[in-house]
Amino acid sequence: LLERTIRPRRLAEYIGQMRVREQLEIFISAARQRNEPLDHTLIFGPPGLGKTTLAHILAHEMGSQLRQTSGPVLEKAGDLAALLTNLNAGDLLFIDEIHRLNPVVEEILYPALEDFQLDIIIGDGPAARSIKLDLPPFTLIGATTRAGLLTSPLRDRFGIVQRLEYYNTAELIDIVQRSAGIFNIPADLNGIKEIARRSRGTPRIANRLLRRVRDYAQVRAAGHIDYHVAAAALLLLNVDDCGFDHMDQRLLHIIIHQFAGGPVGIDSLAAALGEERGTIEDVIEPFLIQQGYIMRTPRGRVATAATYQHFGLTPPNATINSS
Ligand code: ADE
Repeated sequence: LLERTIRPRRLAEYIGQMRVREQLEIFISAARQRNEPLDHTLIFGPPGLGKTTLAHILAHEMGSQLRQTSGPVLEKAGDLAALLTNLNAGDLLFIDEIHRLNPVVEEILYPALEDFQLDIIIGDGPAARSIKLDLPPFTLIGATTRAGLLTSPLRDRFGIVQRLEYYNTAELIDIVQRSAGIFNIPADLNGIKEIARRSRGTPRIANRLLRRVRDYAQVRAAGHIDYHVAAAALLLLNVDDCGFDHMDQRLLHIIIHQFAGGPVGIDSLAAALGEERGTIEDVIEPFLIQQGYIMRTPRGRVATAATYQHFGLTPPNATINSS
């Protein structure tokens, strides 16, 4: 409920992602002028950066309805057929985790996207019949953590492809300030800055930390979030000075101490961490790579000089690690 109410509803309220916003503004205006639905749109990027928020905004800006589902929910061809045949002209269909679509379901999506036609087979054996249904023109909004996981025929059917990037601290300050304003959370700029700076470039994390720091401020301080309250709360929450959480710290620790800094293969890393490989690839390591704390090499993941320094250690071979 909280998440829903702080979601920006218009593109103009959406903070950051300047390049994405500018492009979408143009595509939305153009489609609206021509009185056409928006082209099928793929949004990809790490979790928590605002893919679902953006889908809601696209619907709002197009003056259309958003129907929401996700890849794993659509088990049978009939599940998707039921959704598609219930759309109204101009509706947006949002499929989250679209890389997890069943291949049989994906197959019937192709003609739906291309020609707004549904080809379905009813019954089996000699009694099987193929029927074609016309669909209303609609827009598919697909979201995924990694575009590379999509099959190429599916990826090729999106006319608009947008990649969301991690937010910088200035953008996250604006986001946290906006949320604090909406919820009447008393916080000064230094308190907000500290939360923003340690949010892994991710609005969802920033908003979650804001709520937890507010709890801390309420119980342990006078209810007001300043730098010291934020820092003390974040220490308690195990969020370190770079914004790394417990999982990040464990992953880096394992590369350094269990695998001598790497290179270590992703599957060995997953086993040592006790996490799914996909979680490391999609959720944990992208930020660490972007920040320069993990390198991906053909032989596996490697800790960098910055990783050693982060933990107050000396890199084993400064010439290799600093180049
Ligand atoms: N909340 C989550 N993502 C946001 C964004 N990009 N702008 C404003 N508020 C947000």
